[in-house]
Amino acid sequence: MITIVSGKGAPGATTTLAALAAAWPAPVLLADCDPAGGDLAPGWLGHWLVDGTVRTDLGVLSHATATRHAMAGDPATLIDHVQTVPPARHVGLLAGLTSPEQHAAVGTAGWTRLTASLAAFRTATGHPADTLVDVGRYGTATPWPLLLAADVVLLAVRPTQRHVLSARPVLATLAERIAPERLGLAVCATTPAGTREVRAALGRDTVVEIPADARTAAVLSDGVDGGALPRRSPLLRAGRRAARRLHGTYHNYTPAELRAPAPPMSAGALTGGTR
Ligand SMILES: Nc1ncnc2c1ncn2[C@@H]1O[C@H](COP(=O)(O)OP(=O)(O)OP(=O)(O)O)[C@@H](O)[C@H]1O
Ligand SMILES: [Mg+2]
Repeated sequence: MITIVSGKGAPGATTTLAALAAAWPAPVLLADCDPAGGDLAPGWLGHWLVDGTVRTDLGVLSHATATRHAMAGDPATLIDHVQTVPPARHVGLLAGLTSPEQHAAVGTAGWTRLTASLAAFRTATGHPADTLVDVGRYGTATPWPLLLAADVVLLAVRPTQRHVLSARPVLATLAERIAPERLGLAVCATTPAGTREVRAALGRDTVVEIPADARTAAVLSDGVDGGALPRRSPLLRAGRRAARRLHGTYHNYTPAELRAPAPPMSAGALTGGTR
């Protein structure tokens, strides 16, 4: 489970997660857990939301409602709330909230149940399913269970003074509860020099580095070009490198051993189901 959180200023957390998911070399669950409201369905997937292929009544809120009487998350029910991402069929989307008010209906108990469900979720072959989690901008509504359960928490930041300054207090707060080896940076819309500066300013490892590429970012954040992924894109190339490295790290191999890119798989491959 990789969870991305950000400071102020919309550095590109959601775009980075969408890029990682699109480039992930295996089935992956993309969980839109921003308490301020999810951006993946109305953004990247807006075209499919409008034509009814992607639904917003299935996702974080429907899972919280369906499990409200459960004592602990039941992974068997999670798949009922996951939808295939049309332009990247190896990705399962847990769609986000449609308004900030819905956060109250989920509550700490709902986020805790979801965290347990995500952690217990298995692929068709019985391995823990890879999960990429967007918890949005850090604040009082931040779903901490999703930070505490993550294998790694990444703070999204851009290489600008404003973003670095807003990231600093968030990083300090995160560091109080998250061990240093589980806390890193996702540097968004960056250059090699920008990444070096951010790393020096914040004193943390850069785990993900995504170049500035406004055209592809607009696809992933706003569904420009109908949400279709471009064939050539610096952003997606970097996303692929990062995705392979991260997947290798948590599945104990080096990316060179990865023989072929992920075949197009339905998100049903996460459980062997057909959805
Ligand atoms: N690598 C990038 N290169 C260029 N532009 C980018 C990049 N990543 C994101 N952007 C742009 O930055 C803006 C904000 O992106 P995004 O919505 O992903 O940020 P966020 O951190 O998730 O914001 P929020 O706090 O609102 O959830 C969008 O217009 C997006 O297209
Ligand atoms: Mg976002």
